[in-house]
Amino acid sequence: MVQEINWLERINETAAFLKERVGKMPKTAIILGTGLGDLVNHINIEVSIPYEEIPNFPVSTVEGHSGRLIFGTLGTKYIMAMQGRFHFYEGYSMKESTFPVRVMKAVGVKTLFVSNAAGGMNPDFKIGDLMIITDHINLFPEHPLRGKNYEELGPRFPGMVDAYSPRLIEKCREIAKANDIRVVEGVYVGTQGPTFETPAEYRYFWRIGGDAVGMSTVPEVIVANHADMEVFGMSVITDIGAEGVVEEATHEEVQAAAAKAQPVMSFLMKEIINQFEEL
Ligand code: HPA
Repeated sequence: MVQEINWLERINETAAFLKERVGKMPKTAIILGTGLGDLVNHINIEVSIPYEEIPNFPVSTVEGHSGRLIFGTLGTKYIMAMQGRFHFYEGYSMKESTFPVRVMKAVGVKTLFVSNAAGGMNPDFKIGDLMIITDHINLFPEHPLRGKNYEELGPRFPGMVDAYSPRLIEKCREIAKANDIRVVEGVYVGTQGPTFETPAEYRYFWRIGGDAVGMSTVPEVIVANHADMEVFGMSVITDIGAEGVVEEATHEEVQAAAAKAQPVMSFLMKEIINQFEEL
């Protein structure tokens, strides 16, 4: 077995750096996914730290991700946001890709909001739809909790029922309904990528119970649940892989569809965060 890194030490070191550098720590964090980085325009930024300056943080590489940690207010709430995340397909280990979630927990974050772009298998979905993630299927080839378990961080065998907070899902439904916004709901299948799916793979993911598929989110959500955080997730459906209709997307098309749906997702996320006293 390979010598394990002391993750606890690293997490605490990074948390201490952020507390020292930023001061006030939030209770809510947002991971801004592909093409949704624009939610940042709704944040009144107080402190912004490039990943390179944060000890132990990986540095993000992919186009469309600028890579910084933001502290500021969204509506009435003080939050932190990750602009740019660390995908497994980029070559980061599962522990590296989920490290920021560990740090969020260590500085006192209790609720995590995540967004992503995904391909839709559900035949009722349309390009540009927003999907509330109600559950996920983890098909990543590595697991973020494999290896030594630190009891300080969470249990060895964490449960994953209600991995996506029922009360936050319900709140999102209410807000969408009240504002006449179309939202769909479904199960997100997490795969490693970086290839998009073949028609047979989309069919397979639909048959095993998935509604949408993407290359992120699941690792972070697993770690957040392990750390006893509440999670809310949303996907923008940027391409369709329904049986008989594969509307394949290039990276640019995924970005464009996500950019279009983005103001609506920003609105929903902001409203949910603002409607709970404790967030
Ligand atoms: N598959 C996987 N990841 C994705 C897709 C897809 O169709 N669309 C956006 N991210």
